[in-house]
Amino acid sequence: MYTVGIITASDKGAAGQREDTAGPLIAQIMATAGYDVKQTLIVADEQSLIASALIDFADNKKYNLILTTGGTGLAPRDVTPEATLSVIKKQTPGISEAMRHHSLRITPKAMLSRGVSGIRSKCLIVNLPGSPKAVSECLSFILEPLSHGLDILNGNDSECARE
Ligand code: MTE
Repeated sequence: MYTVGIITASDKGAAGQREDTAGPLIAQIMATAGYDVKQTLIVADEQSLIASALIDFADNKKYNLILTTGGTGLAPRDVTPEATLSVIKKQTPGISEAMRHHSLRITPKAMLSRGVSGIRSKCLIVNLPGSPKAVSECLSFILEPLSHGLDILNGNDSECARE
């Protein structure tokens, strides 16, 4: 069972001015999908704080997967992709491209998410947009291939099935 850490990037959430509904929703979806949700965390939209949380989850806690929500848009304080890019060693652009591709069939505003994804040692980090609606849509697009990717990353399944 793969472990998951969830980070909500939100100034208002971190200040207690807005209830975080996206983080708990991710936790619920991932638990239902068979993941071991270890931790949820709310941090302000500060690149250094988000990067520190990602490093703690990946290096110290050694979670297999980190899902972030929020801070992927065009607002001046949206820096989750920059924080993620500063800590990953390899990008996994297909995951983020797939989310945007499928999301565009639902809303053209999907093009406004700058979310990225990638690998830090054995940990996969994926940025999701901030709204609960976007979170559940994006996760539905990636959940199935995600488990196969984690298998490969962790050496549990080196062969892709011939389909
Ligand atoms: N993706 C999906 N699937 N569904 C959505 O409703 N909302 C978009 C986009 N991605 C959306 C989506 C909107 S309105 C924005 S502004 C961006 O995600 C960035 O969101 P964020 O700044 O909260 O991360």
